[in-house]
Amino acid sequence: MIKISPSVLASDFSALGAEAARMEKCGADYLHLDVMDGRFVPNITFGAPVIKSIRNKTNLIFDVHLMIDEPLKYIEDFAKAGADLITFHIESSSPADETVNKIIDCGCKAGISIKPKTPAEEVFDYLDSLEMVLVMTVEPGFGGQSFMPETMEKVKTLRAEIKRRGLSVDIQVDGGINEKTVEIAAAAGANVLVAGSAVFGAADGTKAIADLRALAEKAYN
Ligand code: DX5
Ligand code: ZN
Repeated sequence: MIKISPSVLASDFSALGAEAARMEKCGADYLHLDVMDGRFVPNITFGAPVIKSIRNKTNLIFDVHLMIDEPLKYIEDFAKAGADLITFHIESSSPADETVNKIIDCGCKAGISIKPKTPAEEVFDYLDSLEMVLVMTVEPGFGGQSFMPETMEKVKTLRAEIKRRGLSVDIQVDGGINEKTVEIAAAAGANVLVAGSAVFGAADGTKAIADLRALAEKAYN
């Protein structure tokens, strides 16, 4: 099933609660919340208190993307703040098995993300416990970058492995997803599409989400 997850990185931060509520009305499935610590990536965004402050503004599933160096330390904070799905980077300094277990123990679903240069095989050991694998389609850190088509081989590899094992793990892509790139990603096997600029930058958010979904549905098989 195709899911659209607008990234608040491109939203109006002065009205974050209203932006979250608006995305629900526009037909989004998830709300993608990009947490950056200025260490794992060269940028700082927001943390658990900000997520908590908008939790009662929408029923959307909170898809929290942790681009932070020590995710294990903060899993409980994000779970308490209302995260539903917590994705951390395999390249971070926390042990992946412990971090996955912690996320699940806190009552959330777990995702692992890989940067463009990290091989897909790095997450194979954890697939059985994961809700989702996030294949970054740009170097993490900033919105508005161009989609890297070379990452699609990894999406294909992961989709094949997930099928081979009879699992139903979602594959998310994040970075530069728009009307021109969404079909390439869905055709490769991605079914959760993050879009920042393409949704928040559109004059009509409902149409932007519907268009992305329609293109992805046609291309995904
Ligand atoms: C990048 C973030 C993305 C970003 C996507 O590090 O993880 O979620 O906001 O933005 P667009 O869709 O504008 O590339
Ligand atoms: Zn993200």
